[in-house]
Amino acid sequence: MMLLAISGSLRAASSNGVLMGAVLELARAGGWDETAVARIGELPLFNPDLDGEGATPAKPVGALRQAVGQADAVVVVSPEYAHGVPGALKNALDWLVSSAEFVDKPVAVITASASGGEYANAQLRETLRMMTATVVEEACLTVPGIAAKVDQATGDITDDALREALRRALGALRAAVRPASTTAV
Ligand SMILES: Cc1cc2nc3c(=O)[nH]c(=O)nc-3n(C[C@H](O)[C@H](O)[C@H](O)COP(=O)(O)O)c2cc1C
Repeated sequence: MMLLAISGSLRAASSNGVLMGAVLELARAGGWDETAVARIGELPLFNPDLDGEGATPAKPVGALRQAVGQADAVVVVSPEYAHGVPGALKNALDWLVSSAEFVDKPVAVITASASGGEYANAQLRETLRMMTATVVEEACLTVPGIAAKVDQATGDITDDALREALRRALGALRAAVRPASTTAV
């Protein structure tokens, strides 16, 4: 089973980036065979004219679509900006609307922000549901005060409650994948 992570923060020292790394480490320890990280920083701004009939979307777009298409599940880890979804992340999702890789894909939305990112979390879940992804509610989390819960130097989660919540979220996400795998056997 392959878990793909997408971070909504492009910042080099992003706490969501550190959290995403920790989530993927927990996932590998929890039985996910493979993990990968999607790159969204090089995507062009979405324009339907670049994506229509006869258009060849830029390479990063193809790479993102392939990564999401190959994943059994996706975890989105993002800060909240001005009570909304960071533009880079919304742009990435816009590139994936018509290509349909998210259809029926189990997704967890984790927002880690100063206040937890309730607004961005709700908006992301709504957008993903509209894209007909399977948003796994038990796998969605808001994480307030993220800066104090991760060690930027080591990449470790320093907050036991957060580590446990992430383990539970990953378990719920994995359970959402299982029925399809079982059918395929
Ligand atoms: C432009 C901007 C807008 C922000 N807006 C919010 C907000 O609406 N709610 C919130 O909880 N934090 C907000 N923050 C604080 C971020 O959540 C915090 O800086 C977070 O650590 C950023 O994530 P990162 O470390 O992964 O880049 C904002 C930060 C920036 C730079």
